[in-house]
Amino acid sequence: MTTALVPGRAADDADGLAVWPASARRLPDGDVLVGGVPLAQVAHRFGTPVYVLDEAEVRTRCRMYRETFPDADVMYAAKALLCRAVIHWVRDEGLGLDVCSAGELELAVTSGFPPERIVMHGNAKSPRDLETALRLGVGRLVIDSPSEIARLAAAVGPHGHQRVMLRVTPGVSAGGHEKIRTGTDGQKFGLSLADGSAEHAVARILSQPQLRLTGLHCHIGSQITDVEPYVASLRRMVGLMARIRDVHGIALPELDMGGGHGVPYRPGEPGLDLTALARALRGELSASCAAAGLDVPRLVVEPGRAVTGPAGVALYRVLAVKRTGGQVFVAVDGGMSDNPRPALYGARYAPRLIGRRSPAAPTTATVVGRHCEAGDVLAADVELPGDIRPGDLVAVPVAGAYHLSMASGYNLVGRPPVVAVRNGSARLLVRRETLDDFRSRDVGE
Ligand code: LLP
Repeated sequence: MTTALVPGRAADDADGLAVWPASARRLPDGDVLVGGVPLAQVAHRFGTPVYVLDEAEVRTRCRMYRETFPDADVMYAAKALLCRAVIHWVRDEGLGLDVCSAGELELAVTSGFPPERIVMHGNAKSPRDLETALRLGVGRLVIDSPSEIARLAAAVGPHGHQRVMLRVTPGVSAGGHEKIRTGTDGQKFGLSLADGSAEHAVARILSQPQLRLTGLHCHIGSQITDVEPYVASLRRMVGLMARIRDVHGIALPELDMGGGHGVPYRPGEPGLDLTALARALRGELSASCAAAGLDVPRLVVEPGRAVTGPAGVALYRVLAVKRTGGQVFVAVDGGMSDNPRPALYGARYAPRLIGRRSPAAPTTATVVGRHCEAGDVLAADVELPGDIRPGDLVAVPVAGAYHLSMASGYNLVGRPPVVAVRNGSARLLVRRETLDDFRSRDVGE
C-alpha cells in the first residue's frame, strides 16, 4: 500500500503535507505554496471558501494511470469533478471520459472532448440522456436494466447502431462506506451475476441487431484500498464472459472494471496501490482467460477520485471560535453545502491553519460549517493551534473530487469558485455562485 500516488512527497511527512498535492511546500511564514502559489494569496484574491486545483497534479495523475495501465483504456469519471479545463486536461493526457448524464456529456462534447472516447452510465437514463447520447455519438452506452434494451434499440432506429456494454453486479462487497458499495445484490446498480439476470439481459441485447455488445462492465464501489475485491470481481466477470462464449459463440472484446480507487484523506491512511492493482488485474485476466480458452479482452478502468481528489484543496476563512460545553468549535465560512461528505459518509479530513505561523500549542477542535444544521461538521476532533481565531485561514486537502460536484445551494450560501494553480500563477476556472444566480432562476410570483 502507498500513502501517496505521486512520487516526490516525503514518506516521513515531516511537514504534515503527505496527502497534499506533490507541489505543496511549507513557507517560513506558515503559509503553504501549491502549484507555486501561496494559498493565502488565492484566498485574498478570489475570496473564501474557494477550491484550489493543482493542474500539474491532475495531469501527473492522468499520466501515471496511462503508464500504469498501458494496455487499458483509462476513462476519467466525470462525476468526481467536471469543468471545461478538467475536460481539456484529461483529453490532452489521453484519457477517455465516463459520464452519467446528458449534462456531463453535453459539457464534455461541446468543450471538445471526442464523443467516441466517452462511455455513458446510469441506472435510470432519462429520455434526454439517451437522446443526447445518440445525437452526440457517444462511444459506449452501459445498459443497467432490461427495460433499457428495447428503449435504446427503438431510439437507435432500424438502420442505426450503438455500441453498448452491460453493467453486471459480480457479488463482491467493497468500498469505504455502505452508501458507496455497489458490487453486491441488494443495491440499485447493475444486473445480478448470481441469479442469472445478467445472462438473460445479454441474450436480449444480442437479439437486437442495432445494439453491438462490446463487453461487460462492473463498478464494485468507491474509496476501495485493497486489490483483492477487484481480482475476485474480475475472475467472476471472466467466468460470465466464458459462459456467453459457450452459449452464444461470441467472445466479447472489452471488460470494464469501473473505478473506486481509494486515496488517503489524512496522513498515514492507506490508498489503493495502483501498480499492484494493474499487475494483479493483468495476471488474473490472462490466467482466467487462458483457463477458459478465451481471448484476453481489452481492460477498461474508470478512476474519478484518484485523478482529481488529491489535486484539490478547499480554503475557508474562520468566522467564529467558540469554547463551550467542553468543546472548541471553529466555525468557517463554508460547510456542508460545499462538502457534504462528512455528513453523508462520516468522511474524515485533516484541516490545517495556513497563512500565518502560530506559536501556540495545539488544541483539539471541531471544524464546523456555517449552515443551519447541527450535522454541518467538516472535521470533528482535529488538532489546530490553540490560538486559532476569526480571520484565520483553514485549508482542507483532498478536496478535488466529490466536493464541487456534490455542492448544493443550501441556505443560498452559493457554491465556491474553482481556481487552478500552475507554475506560480492562479486563474479562475469556475466562478463563485452569487445571489444573482439564485435570483435569476427564481422566476415565479
Ligand atoms: N465508474 C462508475 C460507474 C461509477 O459509478 C463511479 C463512481 C466511478 C467510476 C468512479 O469512482 P471513483 O474512482 O471516483 O471512486 N460521492 C461519493 C463517491 C460516489 C462514487 C459514485 N460512482 C464520495 O464522495 O465518496
